[in-house]
Amino acid sequence: MVVDSIRAAIARDAAATLLTRCASLANCTEKPGEILRTFLSRAMEDVHDRVRPWFETAGMTVSVDRAGNLRCTYPSVSGSDLLRLVIGSHLDTVPNAGAFDGVLGVLIGLALVEGLAGRKMPYAIEVIGFSDEEGTRFGVPFIGSRAVVNQLSDELLRTKDLQGVTVGKAMDGFASAHQDAVESLLAPDKAGYLEFHIEQGPALESRNLALGIVDAIVGQSRCQVVFRGRASHAGTTPMEHRRDALAGAAEWMNHVEQLASGFEGLVATVGQILAEPGAVNVIPGIASCSLDVRHSNDTVRDTAVKAMLKEANHIAAKRGLSIEANEYHTQPTVHLDSAMISIADTSVRNAGYASMHMTSGAGHDAMVIAPHMPTAMVFLRSPGGISHHPDESVLVEDVAAAIHTGLYFLDEFAFFLQKMESNPRA
Ligand code: HGY
Ligand code: MN
Ligand code: MN
Repeated sequence: MVVDSIRAAIARDAAATLLTRCASLANCTEKPGEILRTFLSRAMEDVHDRVRPWFETAGMTVSVDRAGNLRCTYPSVSGSDLLRLVIGSHLDTVPNAGAFDGVLGVLIGLALVEGLAGRKMPYAIEVIGFSDEEGTRFGVPFIGSRAVVNQLSDELLRTKDLQGVTVGKAMDGFASAHQDAVESLLAPDKAGYLEFHIEQGPALESRNLALGIVDAIVGQSRCQVVFRGRASHAGTTPMEHRRDALAGAAEWMNHVEQLASGFEGLVATVGQILAEPGAVNVIPGIASCSLDVRHSNDTVRDTAVKAMLKEANHIAAKRGLSIEANEYHTQPTVHLDSAMISIADTSVRNAGYASMHMTSGAGHDAMVIAPHMPTAMVFLRSPGGISHHPDESVLVEDVAAAIHTGLYFLDEFAFFLQKMESNPRA
C-alpha cells in the first residue's frame, strides 16, 4: 500500500536522524566523560537550547515551564490547542546514564510531528520533555510530570538536595532567572498521553520483538534507612566493643536480598550507601542506605517493605545500633487506559509489526500522568536488556518501527476522537 511504504520510508530516515540527535544530546552533561543531567541544571538547559531549533523548524512553538519542563506545541487544524495529544518522556538522567532513557521518547514525539510534514490533525500535539523523572538530585522522582498534573505536594517542595536547597527554592530560583517560563499545569481539556520508551529489560529481546505495548507500570516504594553506631579507632577498638553502623547495614542488605527472593516477582535494591565519617581507619558511626522496592501488587510491595524495615530494626537492636527508617516515596501500580492501548495495538498492527502486552518494572512519567488523562506507552527493545548504564542502546530499525507505528497512532487517535464525538457513550 503506497501510504504505508511512504510512511515506512519516512520512519527509516527519521530513525537515523533521531539517533544522531541522541548522540548530540549525550554531550549535554554535568560530568565530562559520562552522561549526567539533573533537575534544573545547566546541562538540562543545554538540551533545551540544542533541541529548540529542531522543534521550531518542525512548526512547533517552544517554551520551558516553571518546573523546567520543555513544552513544544504543534497546533491543530482549527488552531485550538484545547484538545491535545501529549507525547512525552524525560530529559534528565541517572548518573553515568545511557543516551536513550527518556530522550528517545521526546525525540520520537518530534519525529512524529516532522513526519506529518505540515499536515494538521484535529487535535493539537504537545511534546513534553520532563525535567526530572529519575529523582537524581532530590531523591524524589517525577517532579516534572507531577508539576504538569498539579501533584507537587508541600512535602515534596520541602525536600532538600545535598546542598540543602529545597525543590521549592530551586524552582523559584529557576523561574526568577527565566522570566519567560510558562505555567506547568496542563490545560483541563486534554485528550491523551503517549510515551515511547526503551524497555530497559530483556523481555522484548528474548522474544525477538521490536515493540511492546505497556498495560501496567508496577508500583514502587523508596525508603531511607540510617544505622547509627559509634565511630571509633579502627586499630584500637576490639571487635567485641564495636558498634559498627556499616557492618549492621551490610548484614541488613543481605537480608533484603533474601527477603526479596521470598516474594514472587518482587525486586528490592539498596542502590545508595553512605558510610560516615568515611575514613579508612575509622569504624563507621553512621551508614545511610536507600531502599527501592517494586511489585505489580501494592499489598505485596507494602508487606515486603514492612518486613525489610522490621528486619533493619531487629539487626540494629542486636548490634546496639540506633536506626531511623522512613518510606519517603510511594507510587501505586498504574494500569494504563484500555482505549489508548487498543489504539496502540491497532497502530502497531497497521504498521506491520508484531508486539506483546507487558508490565513495566521501570517507573515512568506515564504512571504520574495516567490517573489524569488516558495514557498509553510503547516500549522499544533494549539490546542486552541493558539500561541505566553507558552501554544502553537501541536498534535503528526498532526506532523506525516505533516512528512508523506512531504515524499510524496519530491517525487512529483522530478516528477515536471522531467516534467519541459522534457517539460519546461508545
Ligand atoms: O527508576 C525507574 O524505574 C526509572 O528509571 N526512573
Ligand atoms: Mn531511568
Ligand atoms: Mn526513563
